[in-house]
Amino acid sequence: MVDPRFTELKNRLGKVIAQGCLTNSKHPSCFVEGVYPIIAKAGLGPFLECEDGKNYIDTICGLGSVSIGYRRTEIDKAVIAQIMNNGRSFSLPTVHEIEAAEYLLYHYLPSYDAVKWLKTGAEATSAAARIARAATGRKVVLQVGYHGWHDQWISTKNNPQGLPSKDMAVDESMDLEDAMLAIDEKHYAAAIIEPIMLEHSEENTKKLFQLQEVCARNGTLLIFDEIVCGMRIPEGFISSVVHPDLVCIGKGIANGSSVSGVVGPKALMHELPYFVSSTFAGEAADLVGCLATLKTWKNCQFEDVYAKANQTMQWINEGLKEFHVKLEGYGTRGYWKGDLEKIALVFQEAIKCQILLGRSFFYNVAMRESDEVLRSRFSDVFLRLKNPALALEGLVPREPFKRV
Ligand SMILES: Cc1ncc(COP(=O)(O)O)c(C=O)c1O
Repeated sequence: MVDPRFTELKNRLGKVIAQGCLTNSKHPSCFVEGVYPIIAKAGLGPFLECEDGKNYIDTICGLGSVSIGYRRTEIDKAVIAQIMNNGRSFSLPTVHEIEAAEYLLYHYLPSYDAVKWLKTGAEATSAAARIARAATGRKVVLQVGYHGWHDQWISTKNNPQGLPSKDMAVDESMDLEDAMLAIDEKHYAAAIIEPIMLEHSEENTKKLFQLQEVCARNGTLLIFDEIVCGMRIPEGFISSVVHPDLVCIGKGIANGSSVSGVVGPKALMHELPYFVSSTFAGEAADLVGCLATLKTWKNCQFEDVYAKANQTMQWINEGLKEFHVKLEGYGTRGYWKGDLEKIALVFQEAIKCQILLGRSFFYNVAMRESDEVLRSRFSDVFLRLKNPALALEGLVPREPFKRV
C-alpha cells in the first residue's frame, strides 16, 4: 500500500525540481514508469526502502557511489562524529584532507604524489584536463566515453542545447583503438578514457599499456577516469597497474559522501601554475567518510566480493539466457543488454520481486553479505518471465544520457 505522503511527494518533485530530476539517470523515465517506485526513503546494507515501504535489493547502488553498502556502521559513525564534535566547513585546511590523501596514496596509488580533492566526478575530469593543458601547452583533449556534464565533455555528444558551440578544445573517439589512431594523428594535450568499461581482463590491460605507449610517443598525457571503475576490482584502481599521468576518482571512494579528486605526480600536481579551487573541496565530513570508506574496503576481503559478484552475474545470465537479455561486464559492474522491451520486462518483474534494477548494474560489499537473498529473488524473476501472458504494464525505459 503506497503511503499517500509519497504520492504527494512525486507530484511535488515534478513541480519544483527542474526537469523532475537532479541526476538524469534517476528520472522515472529511466525505469518502467508506472510500475517502479520513484522516491527513496532509507537504505540499509544492500537494501533500499522506497515510497511503498518495500525493501528492494538495490543494484543501482546510488549510481555506483555506494561501494560498501548503505549505513555501514564504521563509516557513518566517523562522519556523524565529525559533524557532531567538530563541524564540516572551516576557514583553513583540516587534518582530514591530509589524512585521506595520505591513506589513498600509500594504500591505493603509491606511484603518485598528490591529490586535489573535489566534490563531483565532472569537477575532477575538468580539473585533470586543465592540468594536462597547462602541462603540455596544447589545447585539445581527446575523450572516449562519458566524463560528466561540463560543457567541454558534452559539446561532442548528441545533446548540445545550451552550449555556445562545439568546444574546439575537445575531440571524441568512440573506442580505444580509434583513440590510438587519433592520438598518432594529432597533437593532443591529453587523452581521457574510462580504463575499464565492461571488460576487466588481461587483454584490456594490455590495450591500456598500448594506449600509454601511443600517448608517450606523442607527448600526450594519459588520464584515466576511474570514477566508476575505481574500487570495483581487487586491485582497487587499474592505475596502480598501468600508471597513467593523471587519475580521476570519485563515486565509490566515499560510499555515498560527495568526494572526487585528481591524483598525479609532483611535476603535474605541484609544479605547474593551474587554477583549480573550490569552497567545498575540503569539506571535512565527506573526507572523513572517504577515509573511513578507503579503510573499510581494505578490510573487506574484496577479492572474495569480486569472485562472488562474478559468479552471481554468470548465474543471473544463465537464468535469463532463454529470455535473451544479459548483463555484460564483470561481476561488480554490468550493463543490461538486449531488446529494450525485453529489458523493460525484466525490470518490471524484478521490481515485483523487490530487486531494483537500472541500466547499469553494481554489486557492492553489502550484496556479498546478502547474495542468497539476491539469488532467491532473481529465481522468482526467472519463473515470472516464463509466463506466456507476460505484458509490459508501464513504459519502456529511455536510453541513459538521452535528454530528459
Ligand atoms: C566515467 C564517469 N566519469 C565521470 C562522471 C561524472 O561524475 P559526476 O556525476 O559525479 O559529476 C561519471 C558519471 O556517471 C562517469 O560515469
